[in-house]
Amino acid sequence: MKCAVITLSDRAFNNQATDISGKILKDSLINKGYEVEDYLLLPDEKDELKKALIKLSDEKHLDLILTTGGTGLGERDITPEATLEVATKVVPGISELIRYKSLQKTENAALSRGASVVRGKTLIINLPGSPKAVEECFGFIQGILDHAYKMINNSKHQNELYTK
Ligand code: MTE
Repeated sequence: MKCAVITLSDRAFNNQATDISGKILKDSLINKGYEVEDYLLLPDEKDELKKALIKLSDEKHLDLILTTGGTGLGERDITPEATLEVATKVVPGISELIRYKSLQKTENAALSRGASVVRGKTLIINLPGSPKAVEECFGFIQGILDHAYKMINNSKHQNELYTK
């Protein structure tokens, strides 16, 4: 699987903070055997994120894009909106899984509005921004990534599973 990590953070983009969460995600993907082809650090700007998601999906044909940050309730938290606006399919269950498992860790998980979508053949998943949240949330989704990849890339998958 070819992947990208995008960190959304005005503070890290302006060198007022270090992007630890993006590095955690990169390392987690590499440890799982995925190729991380791109890593972007962007400000919380909807048009910039949309442009990056479209380029990575349509031109680079990546299999998976994980974003971190910008899922909360702040005025500049625009990650879910940008993600939903580039979607060809919405996959609510992945974000439901993240929130369900996260709520068992902290009730603040209710404040993360992350979305999960497919654009073309690229799966895009929003994760919250803190290093702790990213580490936990990657753990929650890693078990379904390979199955999701197979479903996206093999339209006969469902038929093979359920018919003779
Ligand atoms: N999910 C998990 N698993 N663990 C966490 O510590 N933190 C929450 C939530 N989701 C958290 C979590 C908090 S405190 C916030 S404010 C929201 O994610 C939104 O984070 P973001 O705006 O950085 O994306």
